[in-house]
Amino acid sequence: MTTIQFPDKLKWGAATASYQIEGAAKEGGRTASIWDVFSHTPGNVKNGDHGDHACNSYHMYKEDVQHLKELGVDMYRFSISWSRVIPDGTGELNPEGVEYYRNLIQELIENGIEPMITLYHWDLPQVLQEKGGWENRETTEAFLAYANAMFQEFGGQVKKWLTINEPWCASFLSNYLGIHAPGKTSLQAAVDVSHHLLLAHGKAVQSFRDLVPDGEIGYAPNVGWLEPYSPNQEDIDACKRGMMWQKEWFMDPVFKGTYPETLVKLFAEHNATLNMEEGDLEIISQPIDMMGINYYTGSLGRYKEDGGLFQVEEIALDERRTDIDWPIYSEGFYKTLTDLHQTYGDVPIYITENGACYNHGVEEDGKVHDKERVDYLKQHLTALNRAMEAGVPIVGYIVWSLLDNFEWAEGYEKRFGIIHVNFETFERTRKDSYYWFKETVENHSFER
Ligand code: NOJ
Repeated sequence: MTTIQFPDKLKWGAATASYQIEGAAKEGGRTASIWDVFSHTPGNVKNGDHGDHACNSYHMYKEDVQHLKELGVDMYRFSISWSRVIPDGTGELNPEGVEYYRNLIQELIENGIEPMITLYHWDLPQVLQEKGGWENRETTEAFLAYANAMFQEFGGQVKKWLTINEPWCASFLSNYLGIHAPGKTSLQAAVDVSHHLLLAHGKAVQSFRDLVPDGEIGYAPNVGWLEPYSPNQEDIDACKRGMMWQKEWFMDPVFKGTYPETLVKLFAEHNATLNMEEGDLEIISQPIDMMGINYYTGSLGRYKEDGGLFQVEEIALDERRTDIDWPIYSEGFYKTLTDLHQTYGDVPIYITENGACYNHGVEEDGKVHDKERVDYLKQHLTALNRAMEAGVPIVGYIVWSLLDNFEWAEGYEKRFGIIHVNFETFERTRKDSYYWFKETVENHSFER
């Protein structure tokens, strides 16, 4: 057995997002978001699932906080539903919506847990979608006003903020691949959305400096690793191109103030133009205090002539996959972290999401025996530990997710929680992985 030992200063946390857990979709003055409309449109989400009730956390947040407290984590990462706090997308704040988050924050702080807020975890108010959504540059101003209101309301108590969660998903997966809301399939739309999301991020960071001068702000891009299938140059190049889509496209503008030329050209070859105004890149490249990284999977990558936009085919390293069919590749986690450090320098990194989908239910003994999730976490935490030893400035590890929840286009069937949720009764049952994680957090170490 080997002991994997983490430095005492590493912070531990668990994460969720508003639309995935809150439910109470029509309560407390909340209006529809793009995910309400998308999930209620037949054919978009498996089994016709939607977030109307989700985990019912809107009503059960106190119980959720007790689970966090007993888990022993330092932080809870959650997101704010924009249409709950500003039902018209812009303008008036909804006192009931604000009150919900104020109570949640209060409850967390009283229980010794530090809140980390994500401002945008994909639930754009539908009223703004009707004006063009993120394709419309005006939405960046609406986001700024929403962000400012949240900084003013909660910045006194909450010091850790993330602007945008997984901008690749909110742009390309949603507007080019059509899998997430609003379900479009236009490369031009996706390119415009990606630029506006980054611009919105930059604008919020700028005003955060005045409104929460003692706070830390960043964003949470998702990255996956592609390891060349062979040493052939064409496989190496295909992997680079494939990764550039999630990595350089969303990170170069923030950390270097440029977009990667290769992709600007490639998009242009497919008739999609990067529309920018003067000064945009300066706004986007405001210094940030932390980089959030969401990592789940990686593969081998091989050049393929008809392999989509980037001419790359993904091949799993071996047959190991989680229940959502994503290959397990913990070495890719290590490579991603060391590579990001090399490329973007010493910015502190929070792992804002890492976790696994396994659909275990409650067994006869009343327990959930999710050994596979524990194995996944052990492998990825070992990789994280190696990355820290290699000098990557990792300050926090936040597991996805505290609860089984609404897994977007996959609905409720796909379970990522360390706590099982019965979606009819909303009963929570701690899984074996919850107890394993609790021990790891307590000891700052685990045995392998
Ligand atoms: C990324 C997203 O941020 C989160 O909402 C989602 O549930 C997990 N990854 C798992 O797919």
